[in-house]
Amino acid sequence: MIICKTETALQLLLKNKNQQPIGFVPTMGALHKGHIALIEESKKQTSITVCSIFINPTQFNDKKDFEKYPVTIESDILQLEQAHCNILFLPSVEEIYPNGLSNLAQYNLGFLEEILEGKYRANHFQGVCNVVERLLRIVQPHTLFLGQKDYQQCMVIAQLIHLMQWQHTLKLVIVPTIREASGLAMSSRNSRLSTDDKQKATAIYKALQVIQDNYKKQSFPSLQKAAEGILFNSGFNKIDYISICNADNLQPIESYSTSEKHVALIAAYFGDVRLIDNMLLN
Ligand code: PAF
Repeated sequence: MIICKTETALQLLLKNKNQQPIGFVPTMGALHKGHIALIEESKKQTSITVCSIFINPTQFNDKKDFEKYPVTIESDILQLEQAHCNILFLPSVEEIYPNGLSNLAQYNLGFLEEILEGKYRANHFQGVCNVVERLLRIVQPHTLFLGQKDYQQCMVIAQLIHLMQWQHTLKLVIVPTIREASGLAMSSRNSRLSTDDKQKATAIYKALQVIQDNYKKQSFPSLQKAAEGILFNSGFNKIDYISICNADNLQPIESYSTSEKHVALIAAYFGDVRLIDNMLLN
């Protein structure tokens, strides 16, 4: 695997690859099997896989979350080597934001920015769009691979691709969430939980399963209440949302209908670790 730290070095390298299809996996490091599944999918579908590791300061609405974000670069490089990733792009903050962190572009994300993660994490998606637009313009991939665990982020980035008018040249592939045997969704933030807490945190998956098993027969408020009980009884201390939405546009829905695809989404705190997860219901 070749490691590039600058836009110039990366573009020079890619220019010599004679227009072979490029797959791109953007990450913030602290890699786990969920990221490696994205690399593997890119290896299957494209000729050159580029992974980026960049802890993007503009997408952290909470300074403490940014400071505590795990950094495991040596293990990341090892895992990427083992997965036969071709290129790692490892830029500095100055490389990504040469004009500084203020006066960045603003994106019209409409309703997507007002709900769920958008509601609880002010400006988070603006920061995600800032970095992803910059990375896409540097890497110029043919296919972009994202994980379903960040369901709303996938929709935001699909919208970004439209705003950039790249929808005809860039394919977006969403890879299903990879879970621990216990059901807990793989996440870089899990490394901040003890083994015992990780076991308790599987409640987020159990709550989603209860919603999935019962959502055709129970009212949505009663399902939300049941999910809330499961989370609080297992040690979650704060719930941002338990929501059942239209899977295509994330509009909240109040009752079951056969004509729509639905997704349940949860964000909750275990101590000071904020976890998110989701499940397609039909
Ligand atoms: O999902 C992530 O890790 C980040 O939000 C992303 C897409 C790499 C942008 O920084």
